[in-house]
Amino acid sequence: MSEPLILGIETSCDETGAALVRGRELLADVTASSMDEHARYGGIVPEVASRAHLEAFVPTIDAALAAAEVDLADVDAIAVTAGPGLVGSLTVGVSGAKALALATGKPLYGVNHVIGHAAVDELVHGAFPDRFIALVVSGGHTSLLLVDNIATGVTELGQTLDDAAGEAFDKVGRLLGLPYPGGPHVDRLSQQGDPTAIRFPRGLSTGKDKVRHPYDFSFSGLKTAVARYVEACEDRGEPVPAADVAAGFSESVADVLTAKALAACQYHGCDTLVVGGGFSANSRLRSLAAERAEQHGITVRIPPIRYCTDNGAMIAALGSALVREGAAPSSLDLPTDSGM
Ligand code: KG4
Ligand code: ZN
Repeated sequence: MSEPLILGIETSCDETGAALVRGRELLADVTASSMDEHARYGGIVPEVASRAHLEAFVPTIDAALAAAEVDLADVDAIAVTAGPGLVGSLTVGVSGAKALALATGKPLYGVNHVIGHAAVDELVHGAFPDRFIALVVSGGHTSLLLVDNIATGVTELGQTLDDAAGEAFDKVGRLLGLPYPGGPHVDRLSQQGDPTAIRFPRGLSTGKDKVRHPYDFSFSGLKTAVARYVEACEDRGEPVPAADVAAGFSESVADVLTAKALAACQYHGCDTLVVGGGFSANSRLRSLAAERAEQHGITVRIPPIRYCTDNGAMIAALGSALVREGAAPSSLDLPTDSGM
C-alpha cells in the first residue's frame, strides 16, 4: 500500500506555496511570491501580502495538483502553516485550508512554520537520525531546535531576542545603501572585504550573557555597532570601507550562529546539524558551518536553497511526518498563531 498523500499549504509571509508529498517523496512544489510588490516599499507590506495570497491561493494549489498529476480527491490529508508569521497572511492560508478540509472531508493539520524549515530536509537527504539539532535562520526567525522526532518531539533551545539574522542583514544593507532585501547584496560585498579588518561584537556570547542565554541570539547590538562605525566614518569625512564592514559584520553573525549550533550538538550528543531558512544561502554561514562541523565530527545537512526559502514542500513534509506518527488532526476551529 502506498504511503499517504499530503497537500502542504504555506502562506505565512510573502510566498504562497503548495506542494504534494507522498511519504518522504516530493511530487510537486509550486510557489508564487509577492516580493516584487514589496521591494519598492523597502519591506513587506502585510496588507499587500494578504491580498496576494488570496489571489494566488487556488491557482497555486491547482498548479501543484497538476504538476503531481493527482486530483484533490486523491489527497489523504491537508497541512497548513498555522504560525508563526504575519497574521493576515496566515489567516488566508488557514481559512482556505479549512474550507478545503470541510468540502472534501480530509483531515487538517495546522503546523509550525519554523519546524517546517527543518522538516523539508527529509525530502532531500532522507530520513532524519534519531536526534539532531536544527538551526533555522531567515528574515523572520533565528531558532535553535533540539529534535528527537520532527513531528512530535521538538524543543526550542533558543531563539533571537530581537532581530532575525536575515533582518539584521537587510538593515545593514540599508545602512550601506544597498537595495532591498539587502542580505544577498551584503553577502556578495563581504566576499571582497577583509573579515578581520573590523571586529564587531558577538551578541550573547560572553560572560553572564553566554551563561544566561547559551542558545539565544541577539543582533540588534551588532547592527547598532555597524551604524555607529558608518556614522563615525561619515563624521570624519572618510569613505566607508563598505566591503570590510560587510565582511566584519557577516563574520560576527556566522561566528555566533555556528558556535551556538555546534555547542548545542555537543551538549545534547547530536552528530547531525540541519540548517534551514532563507538565510542558509549566506556564504559565510555555509563555509564556517562546514569548517567547524568537520572539526567536531558533525554532519551538516542543508537543503538546496529553493527548499530553504518559504515553500509548500516544508509544510507538506511536516504534515507527512505527523500523519506517519499517527498524530491527531487539528480541529476546524484551529486558530492562527502569529508568534508561535
Ligand atoms: O526564508 P526567507 O526567504 O524569508 C523569510 O521567511 O524571512 O529569508 C529571507 C531572508 C532575507 O532577510 C534575506 O535578506 C536573507 O534571508 N538572505 C540572506 C542571503 N540570502 C537571503 N542574508 C544573507 N546572505 C544571503 N546570501
Ligand atoms: Zn520562513
